[in-house]
Amino acid sequence: MSAPRLLLYCRAGFEKECAQEITATAAAAGVRGFVKGRPDSGFAIFQAHDDDMGVELGKRIEFRRLVFPRQLVRTGELLALAEGDRVSPISAAARSLGSRFAGLRIEMPDTNDGKSLSALAKPLTPHLEKALAKEGVVFDDDRATERLHVFFVGGLACHVGVSTIGNSSDWPMGIARLRMPSGSPSRSTLKLAEAIMQFLDEKERAQRLAPGMTAIDLGASPGGWTWQLVQRGLMVIAVDNGAMDPALLETGQVKHRRDDGFHYRPAEPVDWMVCDMVESPARIARLASQWIAQGWCAETIFNLKLPMKKRWEEVERCRGIVDEALGGGGYYLRIKHLYHDREEVTAYLARRRRELN
Ligand SMILES: C[S@@+](CC[C@H](N)C(=O)[O-])C[C@H]1O[C@@H](n2cnc3c(N)ncnc32)[C@H](O)[C@@H]1O
Repeated sequence: MSAPRLLLYCRAGFEKECAQEITATAAAAGVRGFVKGRPDSGFAIFQAHDDDMGVELGKRIEFRRLVFPRQLVRTGELLALAEGDRVSPISAAARSLGSRFAGLRIEMPDTNDGKSLSALAKPLTPHLEKALAKEGVVFDDDRATERLHVFFVGGLACHVGVSTIGNSSDWPMGIARLRMPSGSPSRSTLKLAEAIMQFLDEKERAQRLAPGMTAIDLGASPGGWTWQLVQRGLMVIAVDNGAMDPALLETGQVKHRRDDGFHYRPAEPVDWMVCDMVESPARIARLASQWIAQGWCAETIFNLKLPMKKRWEEVERCRGIVDEALGGGGYYLRIKHLYHDREEVTAYLARRRRELN
């Protein structure tokens, strides 16, 4: 079995955006194909017209550049399973994809249907592990470059595929499950926590979100994003006409400015600007670009609230705005539909030229 198709996991309701994005990405790489993505199914599949081109695309595509997919798995045809023996066809398909994997993921769409499938799939795991071992498949090899995924889409149907370590999500089902910290004044805190994990690696987090660094939080009330920065020892100016959590102000690390986030300017350059204001995405993209262009901050993370329709087009429009503002000088932009994002995406923007690694 070869793996010419791309299986993309996403939040239910965003299959269309996944389809638009993967079609555009493939077309830019010279690959034509079509997408199967049933509304609210929680996944989409790109199939190139030509299998070899599909395999090639799977090798070249960069997961980090994709906005809407949570996970990227290269797979073959849908596997039909028999009631009495689900395990044998899966282990045979796995064997045809390789013999050494860095992990085994038994997964399903993040939907209500998916939840009921997990009751079926979980008990299958030990049987599958045994069958794979019998086939000579190693699925816990730390030096292997691919993970094995079994993605159930029905009781008797699954996709068997692989993801590449470093070019896919490390999280099971592509979902960053984070526990709500008890001290945070709002659940929004999880968005910034996830964004930081998504956009910065461990070393970058330690270097660039270090104690004593400075940040501005635009649209900060009641303070979930500020709380994340305070936890990391940053000094924060929280800009919002709304109230801030008094406990945050008592830390001595937060100054509250009751001001309009579009008019506020820092007295001196800061390390970070973060922004969670509920405003039109284009206006926020323009503002973030201005902060970077003017050197008011070195890096920024901002949330773009998307319209119900034309979400993909809106993301593209925001990309265009950033490019227009910063294209001449070089910039680094990444946009992701985070697990903790709903009708929104989160972006990271910095002035420096940085290669995707
Ligand atoms: C989604 S809430 C922010 C939640 C916050 N990030 C947290 O974690 O607690 C959006 C905030 O943006 C503020 N806001 C909207 N427009 C603003 C503007 N023009 N200037 C400053 N704040 C604004 C609102 O007052 C609101 O508190």
